[in-house]
Amino acid sequence: MSTTKLSFKLNGHSMEVAIAPNTLLIDLLRDDLGLTGTKVGCREGECGACTVLLDGEPVNSCILPTIKVAGRSLTTIEGLANEEGELDEIQQAFMDEGAAQCGFCTPGMIMNAKALLNKNPNPDEAEIRQSLSGVLCRCTGYQKIVQAVVTASQMKKLQE
Ligand code: FES
Ligand code: FES
Repeated sequence: MSTTKLSFKLNGHSMEVAIAPNTLLIDLLRDDLGLTGTKVGCREGECGACTVLLDGEPVNSCILPTIKVAGRSLTTIEGLANEEGELDEIQQAFMDEGAAQCGFCTPGMIMNAKALLNKNPNPDEAEIRQSLSGVLCRCTGYQKIVQAVVTASQMKKLQE
């Protein structure tokens, strides 16, 4: 099968891969690169479990052709902790607030929250719910997830 070479940034590091032209991003991440933190649920762009950030914007990697990331910057859940392994404040807040049960939706929730807080460090509850509305959780009832994002925004403020 013919392959296409493409370069992009993944979690701050330059990458070059050779892929079949129809490869979906979720398959490159999980199967070829071993980054299984990004989850795959519906494969139809409906559940948000597969959310990653492309140039800071949340995208569903299950429907995104990998070719679209050429020359761009991609962030997955594996890219949030720093080099020393210290968690991002959103990850820490999810732990502190008990915002994950089975954890399947958690990477997608955190990546959407990350995009929100980067743009709006002080969102109200309605803005948080709106930003997470593309991610389905079958376990938590959402309240603790929303609270975790509020807590993360407060932690962010304290660090500034
Ligand atoms: S697996 Fe991508 S939106 Fe559901
Ligand atoms: S914690 Fe289970 S789906 Fe959200």
